[in-house]
Amino acid sequence: MSDREQDETAGAEPQQMAGGFGGLLGASPAMQRLFRAMVKISRSECPLLIVGESGTGKELVARSIHQNSVRAGRPFVPVDCGALAPTLIESELFGYLRGAFTGANSSRQGLLQAAGAGTIFLDEIGELPLDLQAKLLRVLQEREVRPLGSDHTVRFEARIMAATNRDLRHAVEQGAFRDDLYYRLNVVSLKVPALRERKTDIPLLVNHFLQKHAAGRQPAPALSEEALHCLLAYDWPGNVRELENSIERATTLSSGPVLGVFDLPTNLHSSAPVPVADNSGANAHPTMPLRELERQAILRAVADAGGDKLLAARRLGIGKTTLYRKLKEYGC
Ligand SMILES: Nc1ncnc2c1ncn2[C@@H]1O[C@H](COP(=O)(O)OP(=O)(O)OP(=O)(O)O)[C@@H](O)[C@H]1O
Ligand SMILES: [Mg+2]
Repeated sequence: MSDREQDETAGAEPQQMAGGFGGLLGASPAMQRLFRAMVKISRSECPLLIVGESGTGKELVARSIHQNSVRAGRPFVPVDCGALAPTLIESELFGYLRGAFTGANSSRQGLLQAAGAGTIFLDEIGELPLDLQAKLLRVLQEREVRPLGSDHTVRFEARIMAATNRDLRHAVEQGAFRDDLYYRLNVVSLKVPALRERKTDIPLLVNHFLQKHAAGRQPAPALSEEALHCLLAYDWPGNVRELENSIERATTLSSGPVLGVFDLPTNLHSSAPVPVADNSGANAHPTMPLRELERQAILRAVADAGGDKLLAARRLGIGKTTLYRKLKEYGC
């Protein structure tokens, strides 16, 4: 579904979507558009293709649509097409009869059937080998599977959703993905925006992850203002998953009530906006308080040392304890 089409769903049950939809959080315009499209798609039955960078929440989108559809309460079955060997994907999806191949000691129902009236989520669909793509297309068109070693086909009821972080259109042009399967899956598609395109959602997500990973700490730890600035300045190539991992790491490594810049992974430190006082230009701050100058110098030194506080203290010519005390004062 294009951005325009996503816009056309405006007005659909907004009360559900103020800060999120299903397990998905997001108050930014881009996420609100996505939620409106998801409400519509939850009511339909056609195949769905979810695209977006790694870690943007594609699987969560699929789960939320499933949970808000008439299929809620039925199985949601994810299949990672990128992680399974091709022969295994085939036997997992379609099932097999006893003796169909070496090691098939008993018959097994395929996941397409086992999902019943639920949803099958084909993750990393772009990784599916071409011969399996042909088989999947047939299965989608006929809504029947033929278990390996069987002469008979069986019908299945499950809804099909697929996701990829690859540019499938490009893969079609390169001959790596069948165009007929692409068009079949792409009847309805959703694009999950990258986190850097919706940074206004970061505080909401951070609070959620602080609670989620508090591990029983009451109250859950908070994040210092400096640390939040760091998160807002960073580009998030790994999207929401990277943000969640960063917060989980910080809550695990620090036992204090406020998590600071240096509890975050070191690659985030360099995005800390630490302006250096410059008295030469028009924007000079000749009367900047000494304390502020000191704070900036210390934060810059720790960032330059890649988070190595011992090295920063040595470069600044102060003791390690003094550095720790100052950083604590700054809420880092
Ligand atoms: N909007 C969101 N609100 C809350 N949690 C989110 C959101 N988006 C993603 N997450 C969390 O981020 C993590 C990654 O999400 P998910 O696995 O759905 O991403 P993905 O796009 O499928 O990633 P990949 O392409 O690597 O498979 C999960 O722990 C998920 O719960
Ligand atoms: Mg995924």
